[in-house]
Amino acid sequence: MNLPGVNMKMSDPKVIVALDYASAAEASALVARLDPGLCRLKVGKELFTAAGPAFVEQLVSAGYGVFLDLKFHDIPHTVAAACRVAANLGVWMVNVHALGGRAMLAAAREAVVTSAHQPKLIAVTVLTSMGAQDLVEVGVAGSPEEAVTRLARLTRECGLDGVVCSARETAALRATCGKDFLLVTPGIRPASAAVGDQVRIATPGDAVRNGASYLVVGRPITQAPDPLRALEAINTEIRGAAV
Ligand code: C5P
Repeated sequence: MNLPGVNMKMSDPKVIVALDYASAAEASALVARLDPGLCRLKVGKELFTAAGPAFVEQLVSAGYGVFLDLKFHDIPHTVAAACRVAANLGVWMVNVHALGGRAMLAAAREAVVTSAHQPKLIAVTVLTSMGAQDLVEVGVAGSPEEAVTRLARLTRECGLDGVVCSARETAALRATCGKDFLLVTPGIRPASAAVGDQVRIATPGDAVRNGASYLVVGRPITQAPDPLRALEAINTEIRGAAV
């Protein structure tokens, strides 16, 4: 029996499926069960290191919007060059670390907006794995919440499209950064899914109601017995929350 809305294609799918795999073969097996009209895909450091840019181009050719999650953090010239190459792969979204600073963020933006294909450019503020003591140790002032807000503001001032943020930060950042700023939120767990190692989680519906623009979802889809059905259930929940 089909769920309501199964196979309803979207012009702007909100779910980004995290391809957290160590090989192209494993990732391809999952991708073959999905649909580019229903989700985007995230390629991170593990899969990119294993499978390389050719695999990213393959996903783009198959019609998928690809978020290249390599979190560039280097001198401005190097990050700009990497962003330009990423743009030329045809990806939909690419990211950098806001801690690279104003000059690096501005250089990344300049590289993207002057490319023939222009991916959305977002920044990571504070890694959610870092607590207050970690920030003290590396010399970042203020609480994690203050640092996230400060870095999100800097990201917006530098003309980037948005930030990655935890579900817990979404509502505050939406209020601070305005309605057009993209908030890309991992740590998503449908009420029925296993929590796994995530701590600060939200359901898809709550994340959207709090202002998330896109949801990064890994295991609730990749480990589901029927990944397409799990994806469509999340899309249905998102549609319900958005109206
Ligand atoms: O399987 P799960 O849904 O937990 O996967 C979430 C994805 O989002 C993984 O690729 C993980 O690295 C990423 N992510 C995260 N928390 C962050 C940033 C990224 O879980 N703060």
